[in-house]
Amino acid sequence: MRAVVVQQPGGPEVLVVREVPDPVAGPGEVVVDVAAAGLNRADLLERQGRYPAPEGAPGWPGLECSGTVSEVGEGVTGLRVGDRVCALLDGGGYAERVVVRAGQVMPVPDGVDLVDAAALPEAAATVHSTVVARAGLRAGETFLVHGATSGIGTFATQLAHALGARTLATAGSPAKVAAAAPFGADAVVDYRADDLHARVLELTDGEGVDVVLDPVGARYLDLHVRLLRTGGRLVVIGLMGGRGAELDMAALMTRRLSLHGSTLRSRPWQEKAEICAAVVEQVWPLVAAGRVRPVVDRVLPLADAAEGHRVLEAGEHVGKVLLVP
Ligand SMILES: NC(=O)c1ccc[n+]([C@@H]2O[C@H](COP(=O)([O-])OP(=O)(O)OC[C@H]3O[C@@H](n4cnc5c(N)ncnc54)[C@H](OP(=O)(O)O)[C@@H]3O)[C@@H](O)[C@H]2O)c1
Repeated sequence: MRAVVVQQPGGPEVLVVREVPDPVAGPGEVVVDVAAAGLNRADLLERQGRYPAPEGAPGWPGLECSGTVSEVGEGVTGLRVGDRVCALLDGGGYAERVVVRAGQVMPVPDGVDLVDAAALPEAAATVHSTVVARAGLRAGETFLVHGATSGIGTFATQLAHALGARTLATAGSPAKVAAAAPFGADAVVDYRADDLHARVLELTDGEGVDVVLDPVGARYLDLHVRLLRTGGRLVVIGLMGGRGAELDMAALMTRRLSLHGSTLRSRPWQEKAEICAAVVEQVWPLVAAGRVRPVVDRVLPLADAAEGHRVLEAGEHVGKVLLVP
């Protein structure tokens, strides 16, 4: 089969289509004929040699896909050849076929196009496992997410809104603030033009926020600690703004704040299976009802994977970039 491999660590040009061995379903696994694969920020790091695939994962990128089950391994129940699915992958989605543990395979939510479904697994699993399962965001609380137009941000904004939270989002330009409008945020703040601290306090009548989903890390730690109200929860999922920062532990104590971190890819498969089950139970009904939808920026052929990475690196996208074999 054809797959997009990383010839050597480097820029987008190192992504090339190659013939690789066809995957085979082992016990507990299925093979999916890929309809589309979603691109993620982590793929850029993998391409640069800074985010190695976990042991046993295919040697080419791709953390999520949609498609049709074409082979079912021994011991798999509940999945059959021909099922339309989407899947959270350990790697290998940039290909015509991929092997995945059955627990990481989810049905395509009702009403969603098979190709568009590739935009869902990584964002749904990341956002549900952090914002809902870990931070326990509830209706009536205030939620802050950065990167309103990102793959994660478009999903988190819609999900928090659908759950009844007041949702504030940030974006890096007036054009992106405008592009984020359809996703249901109560306000979108331009983090380059505005003083984020002052603006969020103004939008919350000085109260601050209950939950933050943070892909920035160090640069925003102090800001987030100052913005969290009593009982607030911060979940760090990215380090685009660095990894080391000073923490005001007095604020943590007096306002009973909690600080969480999470990476999805490194989790054991049993945890990924639990996360996928929770997504199907709690998130897919909202998708089927049209309250949370996949946001697809563009669909490119596998051979244009390098172009997809350039788009992501330049931040030209709104939602997800997909590759189709
Ligand atoms: N831990 C996990 O399990 C996990 C899983 C999935 C994703 N992630 C992380 O989540 C983040 C988003 O992933 P993605 O695939 O959705 O990426 P993406 O679509 O490429 O989006 C990146 C976003 O980050 C925003 N951003 C960059 N610097 C910022 C800053 N200083 N303040 C506010 N926003 C800033 C950008 O906003 P503008 O373009 O508006 O500037 C952009 O919307 C990445 O950091 C990724 O590594 C983590």
